[in-house]
Order: sequence, then C-alpha cells, then structure tokens
Amino acid sequence: MPLKQIISNLRPKRPARPAGEVRFVGAGPGDADLLTVKALRALQEADVVIHDGLVPAQIVQLAQSAHKFIPVGKKGFGHHTPQSDINARIVENALRGHRVVRLKGGDPTVFARLDEEIEALEEHGIRYEIVPGITAASASLAAIGQSLTKRGRNASARILTGHDMKGFADHDWRALAQSGEVAAIYMGKRAARFIQGRLLMHGADPTTPVTLVENASRADQSILATNLLNLPDVVDQANPSGPALMLWGLAPRDAAAHPVLQQELA
Ligand SMILES: C[S@@+](CC[C@H](N)C(=O)[O-])C[C@H]1O[C@@H](n2cnc3c(N)ncnc32)[C@H](O)[C@@H]1O
Repeated sequence: MPLKQIISNLRPKRPARPAGEVRFVGAGPGDADLLTVKALRALQEADVVIHDGLVPAQIVQLAQSAHKFIPVGKKGFGHHTPQSDINARIVENALRGHRVVRLKGGDPTVFARLDEEIEALEEHGIRYEIVPGITAASASLAAIGQSLTKRGRNASARILTGHDMKGFADHDWRALAQSGEVAAIYMGKRAARFIQGRLLMHGADPTTPVTLVENASRADQSILATNLLNLPDVVDQANPSGPALMLWGLAPRDAAAHPVLQQELA
C-alpha cells in the first residue's frame, strides 16, 4: 500500500454530517394567534420550511431564519404536488443536515398524509417530531359557539372526509342518520349533494341542521347555516371558494344571526 494511502487511513475520519431533523408542525386553521408556542418556536428554529398551500403567508413568514421556503400546494381536485415529490423534498433537505419544518394546515394528524411522510423519513433513519395544531373542526365549532360533544345529545362524534382517493367517500350513513349524531366533515363542499342523498336514503330527518364554516378563524370567515334538505342548493348558491368545514347535526348557537336557517325552517 502506498505511504500516502496509509497516512490517509490513519487520519481520524471526519464524522459524516449528521442528518437533520424534521418537525411536522400544525399551523392551525389560519389565525396566527392560534399557533401553539411550540409551533412558533419550531418555525423560528427552522432552516427550511416546506408548507401547504392552505397555510397563510403571515404564518410561513414567522420562520425568520429559514433560508429556503418550499410551497407544496395541494388543493382538493385542483393542481397539486405529487406526494412522492413532497416526500423527496423533505428527505433531501433533512439529509443535508437542515432543520426542516413540514408545516401543515390545522393539525398534522388530521387528513394530512402524515403517515406517508413519516414512512419516507423512517426509510432513511431521519428523526422527526410531531407538533400538534388546532384542527379546522375545533375552529369551526368555536365559530358557531357549539361543542363537539354534549351531555344528553351525543357522547361521540365523527371526523369524516367528503372525498378520498377514489372519489366521494363512503361512510356508515345509517349510523350518521340517527338523531343527535354530530360529524365534522372535511373536504365536503363538493360532496354536498352526495352526502345529502346518502343521509336521506338512510332515513335522516331533512330538517337536521348542517352548518358550513368557510375560512374558520380567519378575517374572512363566513358561516352558512342550513338543513339537510337545502344543503346542496345552499352550497351551490354560495359557492364558497375558501376551505370549508361542514358540521352535521349542529346549528350556530345564535341561529337568529343566520337568516338562511331561519328562512328554511320557517
Ligand atoms: C387536507 S384537509 C387538512 C385538514 C387539516 N389538517 C386540519 O386539521 O384542519 C383540508 C380541509 O380542511 C378543512 N379546513 C382547513 N382549514 C380550514 C378553515 N380555516 N376553515 C374551514 N375548513 C378548513 C377544509 O374542509 C379543507 O378542505
């Protein structure tokens, strides 16, 4: 073996740059005041922020020392970044040794494809942490002044999606159609007619209240209060363009302030 190589072998090897870490951070429903202190700290410590389209710029910009911001928009049926690309961006930046914040709207554990991203990290032995956030359902319930569960009304509640990878999502409609049932339906705007049809078919009362909260917690928040019978027409007519959460079985506490409901139930 040549002397040069022997010397090189004897030199202490520089440790490989340690892989960075990824924090999956819940950005909450949009109001920056609803960020947790831990989420804020994670943003302030981030080198790279990979964020969803739903997260307002005001929150993304809290990552003041980050040098890279990667938007990975994902909007209902519209343009989206393929999940495999998102996984690759997270892994690549973590392997470069960066502190990566994967910033997701609401809570990262609710309809946020968290598991797929975690599995990509696990394949590469990258450390991660999950920082919970306030989910859209909590903000929507706060907006209408109602509880998700209530003694004597419902001892359980469901979290549903209006559509899944195959199209409109099927659920236990018979159970949901029972009086007193409550559900928070994410991504339900376009599925309003489908949801109505399934619930009526399973015997739901057409006068059951349904409330759609658009842009919950944001300055442009709006509340559409209706009932099962009128749900699809009311949604078509209002044509909400922002993210909206449907609350099955709940009307706003101050129903008098919501004329749509008054008119329909009269
Ligand atoms: C892909 S899911 C993400 C949910 C998110 N992880 C959460 O915990 O709120 C997107 C859906 O969440 C709901 N959503 C998110 N932000 C919202 C908001 N500010 N107001 C009402 N609904 C919202 C809408 O139903 C939207 O289509």
